[in-house]
Amino acid sequence: MGDQRPLTIVSNRGPAEFGLDEAGNRTARRGGGGLVTALTGLVTHRRALWIASAMTDEDNKVAAESGGEPTTIELDGVEYDVCMVDSDPEAYDRFYNVIANPILWFIQHYLWDLSNAPDIRRTEVEAWEEGYKVVNADIAEAVVRSIEGQDEPLVMLHDYHLYTCPGLIRQARPDAFLQYFVHIPWSQPDSWRILPNRWREEIYRSMLANDIIGFHTTAYCRNFLQCCRELMELETDYERGAVTYEGREVWVRAYPLSIDADRLYSTAESDAVEEYEREILRRRRDHLILRVDRADLSKNVLRGFTAFDTFLEMHPEFREKVTFIAHLQPSRLDVPEYAEYMERIEALVAVVNHRHGTTDWMPIDLRIYENFPEAVARYKQFDLLIVNSLFDGMNLVAKEAPAVNTRDGVVMLSENTGAHEELGDCTLSVNPFDIQEQADTIHRALTMDPEEKSLRASRLKQIISSRDPGDWIDEQVADIATKTAQTRAAA
Ligand code: G6P
Repeated sequence: MGDQRPLTIVSNRGPAEFGLDEAGNRTARRGGGGLVTALTGLVTHRRALWIASAMTDEDNKVAAESGGEPTTIELDGVEYDVCMVDSDPEAYDRFYNVIANPILWFIQHYLWDLSNAPDIRRTEVEAWEEGYKVVNADIAEAVVRSIEGQDEPLVMLHDYHLYTCPGLIRQARPDAFLQYFVHIPWSQPDSWRILPNRWREEIYRSMLANDIIGFHTTAYCRNFLQCCRELMELETDYERGAVTYEGREVWVRAYPLSIDADRLYSTAESDAVEEYEREILRRRRDHLILRVDRADLSKNVLRGFTAFDTFLEMHPEFREKVTFIAHLQPSRLDVPEYAEYMERIEALVAVVNHRHGTTDWMPIDLRIYENFPEAVARYKQFDLLIVNSLFDGMNLVAKEAPAVNTRDGVVMLSENTGAHEELGDCTLSVNPFDIQEQADTIHRALTMDPEEKSLRASRLKQIISSRDPGDWIDEQVADIATKTAQTRAAA
């Protein structure tokens, strides 16, 4: 790798979340979601200091014990140099539970039912000023402290939690190279008009303090440039992927994330996975349908179950021959919309199981917990994987599961996932809103001719294994080097 500057990476969620077990001993749990996978890949590839928010009470204690200095954490055989930033708990609650997750996440995944929500009231305005911006300022301060004494330091920031951070770092360190990767979709200009103008301006001004902004797909790059043009009236260059702001050129690039293949394959071969697989094989019916998701509204779990319900209605010959395992990891339960979503999921599963189930057959097997080895065992054994997200930045499950599957399993993939840009040709694409199409696709997948299944599955494996997280990092580092050289030459 060309650029050997010390690297600081910054994200809200860090590699580990600390808690206490029943005996009161400290435990460290790996964070869920694609961001931690991506950044774990990054730090195994290149030494970096990882600055993240303290998210739990025990995280706060770890942060206080380290007195703002980095600590080394070892988790699943990977060493991380981490600096956890403990913001005021009330500010953090407003940042995470009022602004970042319900508002920004909802905007960027088009999740609002706009005639009803969102209402921007004093609670939200205060949460922006005294929550989102305060936590961003705390993080920016930690970054500025950590790069003190470094010449032209390199800082990589991640995701929708930190939009107002780059502007603050730029003010303090005009010489820093700021690279920002957004792990979720960048939605179209009108969706951003939901935000009060002032917040929107603050977000865009700060984001344009970066040198490079990365996304998973070219579609998100185009959306970002379109937003700069329409919302900020800036000159944009779609061909070169660039926008000019206050005399500086910002590059906007796509770097599709790939799976952490080493971790996945070694888990797939572990004893724990084998044991889970034996259990799956013991209980399996003729066909196994699988979904593995964070329990998030964007994942479209309800329509997936309704499609399965429709499929069983239309094809009674499949009764007792198929099980749909839905392995969901609880997420963001302090946000009311998420808690309510979980309730709706459980209620719908009860209805479908009641409608079609028999004394010894439960059509939907709902599992709500996080267990990576168990998820991997299921990845190996599915006949049909359902990924029907409404909108999804990338969706790594769509890559992880077929990579280790042993049954030529078919993948049903929403055309609104980032993964679809790479995998669409070998999957069965669906419109996530079209329940009938999804029901028909379940039938098509479960009756597909073995030769076609095998062709699709091997092509999928090929595409997925052609990239690893090292490529994702290397492409970004190469662009950083090119842009740094250009800036130096122009100076
Ligand atoms: C997505 C987001 C990440 C986030 C992850 C888990 O993958 O892009 O930024 O860390 O979900 O969500 P959580 O709120 O638990 O960090």
